[in-house]
Amino acid sequence: MQNIVSTIFNRFSSKSLPLVLLTFLLTNVSAAQDLQIERKVDNLLSSMTLKEKIGQMTQFGGINKKYEEMIKLGEVGSFLGVKGAEKINELQRLAVEKSRLGIPLIFGNDVIHGYHTTFPIPLGAAASWNPELVQLAAKIAAGEAALEGTKWTFAPMVDIARDPRWGRIAEGAGEDPYLGSVMAEAEVMGFQGNNLNNDLSIAACAKHFAAYGAAEAGRDYNTVDISERTLREVYLPPFKAAVDAGVSTLMSAFNSLNGIPASANYHILTQILRKEWGFTGFVVSDANSIGELINHGIAKDEKEAALKALTAGVDMDMGGDAFTGNVYSPNLASLVKEGKISEKLIDQSVRRILRIKFRLGLFDHPYTDTLYIKNHIPDQKLRDSAALRLAEESIVMLKNDNNLLPLRKDLTSVAVIGPLADDKYDPLGPWNCSPIPKRVTTVLDGIKNKLSPTTKIKFIKGCDIESNNKRQLDNAIRIAGQSDIVILVVGEAANMSGEAASRTNLDLPGVQEELVEKVAKVGKPTIVLLMNGRPLTIDWIAKHIPSVLECWFLGDQSGNAIANVLFGDYNPSGRLPVTFPRSVGQIPIYYDHLNTGKPFEENNKFTSKYLDSPVTPLYPFGFGLSYTTFKYENLKVEKNKIKIGGSTDVSINVTNTGKISGSEVVQLYLRDLVASVSMPVKELKGFQKIYLNPGETKTLKFIITPKMLELYDVNMKKTIEPGKCEVMIGGSSVDLLSNYFEIIK
Ligand code: GLC
Repeated sequence: MQNIVSTIFNRFSSKSLPLVLLTFLLTNVSAAQDLQIERKVDNLLSSMTLKEKIGQMTQFGGINKKYEEMIKLGEVGSFLGVKGAEKINELQRLAVEKSRLGIPLIFGNDVIHGYHTTFPIPLGAAASWNPELVQLAAKIAAGEAALEGTKWTFAPMVDIARDPRWGRIAEGAGEDPYLGSVMAEAEVMGFQGNNLNNDLSIAACAKHFAAYGAAEAGRDYNTVDISERTLREVYLPPFKAAVDAGVSTLMSAFNSLNGIPASANYHILTQILRKEWGFTGFVVSDANSIGELINHGIAKDEKEAALKALTAGVDMDMGGDAFTGNVYSPNLASLVKEGKISEKLIDQSVRRILRIKFRLGLFDHPYTDTLYIKNHIPDQKLRDSAALRLAEESIVMLKNDNNLLPLRKDLTSVAVIGPLADDKYDPLGPWNCSPIPKRVTTVLDGIKNKLSPTTKIKFIKGCDIESNNKRQLDNAIRIAGQSDIVILVVGEAANMSGEAASRTNLDLPGVQEELVEKVAKVGKPTIVLLMNGRPLTIDWIAKHIPSVLECWFLGDQSGNAIANVLFGDYNPSGRLPVTFPRSVGQIPIYYDHLNTGKPFEENNKFTSKYLDSPVTPLYPFGFGLSYTTFKYENLKVEKNKIKIGGSTDVSINVTNTGKISGSEVVQLYLRDLVASVSMPVKELKGFQKIYLNPGETKTLKFIITPKMLELYDVNMKKTIEPGKCEVMIGGSSVDLLSNYFEIIK
């Protein structure tokens, strides 16, 4: 069947056949394929014992002799944490050739932002506002993972995060549902390609379902209690985008959601995911999140936990800490025998798992064909260039007073100071998979590669990332005094964000703040490069340092990308995917907030404000500077009245008013001014990243579609209401031109 698809696609390219007919043909072919898979699943299911069925629902982490026996008995369906084609093929052989039915295993790993070639962390990649590049990175990661036997990644992590105390903000696309949805789709398409049955494709997994990022106080694994409205308007859209993009699996989250743990939450796992969205893949629990239903207090023992998770809609049980915490394997059979669950419920889950294994082609080609993959994945040079491009586009310039940047390459002397300046590990971020640290270009390397041989470069760490050791401070100050320019490289250790890495204080850790202040006070032109997995409260830096680049953790190409921006070989184009607060006291702070009944007014005490802080963030969502400047003019709305269900074009002229070429992220926001419910003061509904030469003007067009105008009414029914809308376009969420249109009945 597969070759039929490729034959049609190759022979009847869109040139010779109207696209509509081509689409019709391919749609029907894929429908025929699906039908064929369903038949195979039915046949296989009908010949499986209950034990073999439960085996498919069981995932172990790591391997030992006991598991090898269980493979031969058909009592395990998946492994996590096993890497390398040789080992994986060896275990796969046991399943395919030694077990009664020969059902292949599916091997999963956390390929979050690269397998060997490590890309920017997802929060950094989101700052590129370049979904095509994000998709390419995922595609490259998929090829490298598939080459080593991994056919399933526990990515993309699509949790919206409005609280930077939460360390896992590093793993997602930030605070916005629309940007998060665009990135979710890009990653799913990148990992899975347009044909899951391809040797270079791997199954994706949208996680953590759902609303894990809304953990109270930003404390990982903590309680989530949000309204159905917030759940559906903010936290679910990226999951829906992933499902619409064809994601093969989802992972249920650790957190409780409105009193019901996500891994036993029928409302999201079945009502929304299956009945409303029509998802046909399978749901894997997070590690031991089923067993943890006991801690949540909704199961008295593992047996009850297994019952509740399966009934809610979790199909596969990912083992516990030591991955011995599986609860499906030891309990489901007795639950069936006791009549507490029907075997139909088991069959439903097994069907979903087998469906994905068939779609992945694991039955047709269960073994990793390293030769084929090696000959078909892009060569390392191409992978590195993709990593460099995404790293460059992820960098956000937060400040550049008096155009201190870009620097000349023939400087007389430069001081490079900071604990992250010559670090090959932390730039790999908290969720690197199988990185090759020696391939990481550090900031110091990147700067050395750029500068002329005559430039004197002095380097000192100055302090550690986290310790209070000040022994090098004086030397750092001395070196700064001896140099023309000072580049400070500060931030977090990679393990200070990611899982189980919440912080109550978002200042620079250790004595780095003191290092920055003392070095800056030497009085030389000073640049701060931030390497971090979350927004930091950098008020002093924002006030006193002329140039600041947000560099996140950029992966292998960190030093090259940063040096390209520092010395003007790349004009920074990153825009913040998340708001930077002035202080932890402002959190949660996000751009798409409601107006309230007393919106902030500077000179009116009785409005929504603080006594001890401005209400505005340090840096807003969508913000980022360039080495050039852009002007927005003529925001036009084609129709100032549109019927419900109708659409209208809007256009705007954008001009590069500076002296060098550069990219601009043109952002479209909407506001429903009066509705049956309070609506955010603005919501991102579209963006276009464009490249303009000096003096060049482009007229950009956006189409305001009915989908953009939908809202949940008082009864949580999705609808479009008549009324006046504001359309805003600009280069960040705070720098916007406005116009209006009205929706009429
Ligand atoms: C972890 C994470 C999840 C990851 C899984 C397997 O606990 O929550 O994101 O995919 O375990 O490593």
